[in-house]
Amino acid sequence: MKNASAQSCKQHLLRGFQECRASTLALFENLDEATFRKQVHPEFSPVGWHLGHIAMTEGLWILEKLAGVSTSTLYPEYRKLFNADGLPKCDRGPNLPPIPELYDIVHSIRDRVLAYLEIAPIEKQERLWRFILQHECLHYETTAFILQLRKQAGQKYRFPFPSEQPTSDPLKAEMIEIPAGEFEMGNNSVAAMDNERPAHRVYLDTYWIDRYPVTCGQYRQFMADGGYQNESWWSEAGWKWLQEHPVSQPLYWDDSTQWNNYPVSGVSLYEADAYARYLGKQLPTEAQWEKAASWDAKIGRRRTYPWGEEMPSSDRCNCHGIVGQTTPVNAYPTGQSAYGLYDTLGNIWEWTSSLFEPYDGFIWYPYPGYSQAYFDNQHRVQKGGSWIAHPWLMRVSFRSWYPPETRHIFVSFRCVSSSPL
Ligand code: AVJ
Ligand code: FE
Repeated sequence: MKNASAQSCKQHLLRGFQECRASTLALFENLDEATFRKQVHPEFSPVGWHLGHIAMTEGLWILEKLAGVSTSTLYPEYRKLFNADGLPKCDRGPNLPPIPELYDIVHSIRDRVLAYLEIAPIEKQERLWRFILQHECLHYETTAFILQLRKQAGQKYRFPFPSEQPTSDPLKAEMIEIPAGEFEMGNNSVAAMDNERPAHRVYLDTYWIDRYPVTCGQYRQFMADGGYQNESWWSEAGWKWLQEHPVSQPLYWDDSTQWNNYPVSGVSLYEADAYARYLGKQLPTEAQWEKAASWDAKIGRRRTYPWGEEMPSSDRCNCHGIVGQTTPVNAYPTGQSAYGLYDTLGNIWEWTSSLFEPYDGFIWYPYPGYSQAYFDNQHRVQKGGSWIAHPWLMRVSFRSWYPPETRHIFVSFRCVSSSPL
């Protein structure tokens, strides 16, 4: 890398670090001590922990590993607390430092990180810097999930964003044919996480895939037709889950028809799968989803984003919390993939039926706990990112993973079929 490109790489990273931190701090603004410490869901740590974990992870990798700063100046007393496999989640809240002290840690680490960026040999370090940037974006989105759960629980918290969208006529589901053939899955770029690598060719038979995520209007029909009562549409594991966790609607359900064209939000993989079976369809595999979202068959190349190579912005998709909630599934015509799918990036995460597994040739980076620890046959892949997802980690190859019963995230789905329906 020549000096000029090293400089522009640093500029790019600096902008990313600053933008992302501004979003994080906006999310935490005006939160009281109780909200910081409260664990609202057994699978999630308190939001205050996420803030400390963001800072300490940055300190560990950039300051300690790259800059060679001594551990003793990096809050060794908090190392265990803010490590992802330190304390049990339920013990984290009571052990958090007071809020002002937490912010001191956050700002002091960040100041040293940006000072180091100026002298860092970036040509050898870019991948790790990009990882750390995206790591903050991940915890930013998780923090938003937690704050939404708290809001749901009747707390006063509101997102610092506007809302309200127009309504329109109910959309019908539409399916698009994806002709048989090979495509390129995954991503080798410097921004790609370990689990996206290596890029590889995959052959798929012809299939049909929904043009839009499933809407509330469509899902209401499933509910009205006894979707939650009729065992024949549920997988064995799904029906067992439903008996143990009796629910009759998605987590983020509002019965008003005003939401007809908005995607369903907060469904487990089991509910998504039951809906698909009810229509004689299936959930897409990750490969089916990724091909339909990224493959440009005309020139035989993958696109990083459904529309091409321009980074996600609020013109092309619902992201970064700009709108402050989901949008109708047909709201972003400029965000279509080459095959014409809407909303593959942004608005809402989408379940796939695929287990979270490594691609052939996987090598963990920067630590086995990022991906490898979750190759346990208990996690399924979600794609696309939600309305609050940060553009720095939105790309078609990006993979998230949760157990199938998870519904406390902003997640929806679309369906596929092996014949036109
Ligand atoms: C990709 C959202 C499942 O929260 O466990 C954050 C992201 N990994 N720090 C998670 C992650 C390490 C991860 N998910
Ligand atoms: Fe983390």
